[in-house]
Amino acid sequence: METEEQENQDNQEEQLSQRDIVKMYSKYVCKPKADFFKNLGLGLVQGKRKGIYLYTHAGLRKKDPPLELINCRTSGGVFNLGHQNPQMIQALQEGIEMGLDIGDHHLVSKQRALLARDLAELLPGNISKTQYCVGGGEAIDLALKLARAFTHRKKIISAKRSYHGVTGLAMSAGNERFSAPFDWDHDSTTSEFQKVPFGDTQAIVDAIDDQTAAVILETIPATGGILIAPKGYFTAIRKKCDEVGALYIADEVQAGLGRSGEMWGIYGGIHSDELIVPDLIVLGKGMSAGIYPMATCSYRPEIESVFKADPFIHISTTGGSELGCYVTRKMLRIISQPEFLENVLARGKQLEQGLLQLKALRPDIITKIRGRGLMWAIEFIADKFGLGYTLYMIQNGVFADNCGNNEKTVKLMPPLNVTEADITEILRRLTIALEKIPKISSVAEDSQ
Ligand SMILES: Cc1ncc(COP(=O)(O)O)c(C=O)c1O
Repeated sequence: METEEQENQDNQEEQLSQRDIVKMYSKYVCKPKADFFKNLGLGLVQGKRKGIYLYTHAGLRKKDPPLELINCRTSGGVFNLGHQNPQMIQALQEGIEMGLDIGDHHLVSKQRALLARDLAELLPGNISKTQYCVGGGEAIDLALKLARAFTHRKKIISAKRSYHGVTGLAMSAGNERFSAPFDWDHDSTTSEFQKVPFGDTQAIVDAIDDQTAAVILETIPATGGILIAPKGYFTAIRKKCDEVGALYIADEVQAGLGRSGEMWGIYGGIHSDELIVPDLIVLGKGMSAGIYPMATCSYRPEIESVFKADPFIHISTTGGSELGCYVTRKMLRIISQPEFLENVLARGKQLEQGLLQLKALRPDIITKIRGRGLMWAIEFIADKFGLGYTLYMIQNGVFADNCGNNEKTVKLMPPLNVTEADITEILRRLTIALEKIPKISSVAEDSQ
């Protein structure tokens, strides 16, 4: 039985205002982060959430009401099925009732085997082996470790402005913004991590050589600005990797699992004649259905030879929780329905058309609209517009943000199960937010 004292404490916690929470966060979690949001005039303390909606607690000042936001950030696709999806909650409850917990990571596991089998049926080519991790960064680290151990080489090639996580190897493969403050070795002339601009076919083909262990790319770089590779790009990379014995790792943490309108970003889309198969593919974010952390690194069976001498050289205590595996299998069943991906494509088209109308409204500040499926970018003429529009969007009920490695670009990634009416409402709110940006006289070049 709970004591009266405990009940009183619970009641007090229930009553905490946004201001109290920001203060407590500042004191016990991270003051600079709390200050960042405070300085923007936003508390943005996440409160209730349901479907496409995220509500904040009441404002920092007493008169500020709680905000009702349509979540177009979705933490990069974590909430692909919206918040608190009833089927996912039911799956978690079923898993608990079945007696599942995290499980012992050293033992053989039925739930891990079942999810890996389901993934093998969906993944491209003969990618059929899966190892589990807690988050995307850990899974990227594993992919890079496997590539090095398999090829007995060290060089890793990635894209400038990319983001693969903040763990050791993943951090080195990504943009310096996330590694330089920690004194990571990023001298591009000596580093084992070489970076080339995304989308420059010649630059990447020239960089891949017989010292290269792997090329790692986000299929659609998200933090870099939702960039779309030119035709022939991935085919040329695959060909050069095969010529020199390097591996190709597809980071589909954001672009995978239906986000692009195809199950895998590397499949199809605007260049549907290019069906290249990577050697390894990394998944995260949407795998959890926003309910239970899950990330995976899947690869061709030959790569498994790395574990032959000692299968315990890579382990993750909470990666691949049995409960998480159960939830993820249910999520995969939902997104593999043909009508699910049809909806992503149709709603993506609707969003694209609406965004092009926004561009037509403000050619003075918007230079490009680009994307695929339900992953879209609005590129502005300068960084300050990316940040400015983010604020106006939030004030007008759309939660989205500008890209960390390309600040003039705002990215929109709503849940994948949005309806036509939801997209209409998102576009209505985006239009109102855009009208708030003062007109400037110079007209940007039309580079769409
Ligand atoms: C493309 C990509 N790869 C990897 C990661 C790292 O995932 P996590 O934050 O789960 O470690 C992210 C996270 O944003 C990502 O966007």
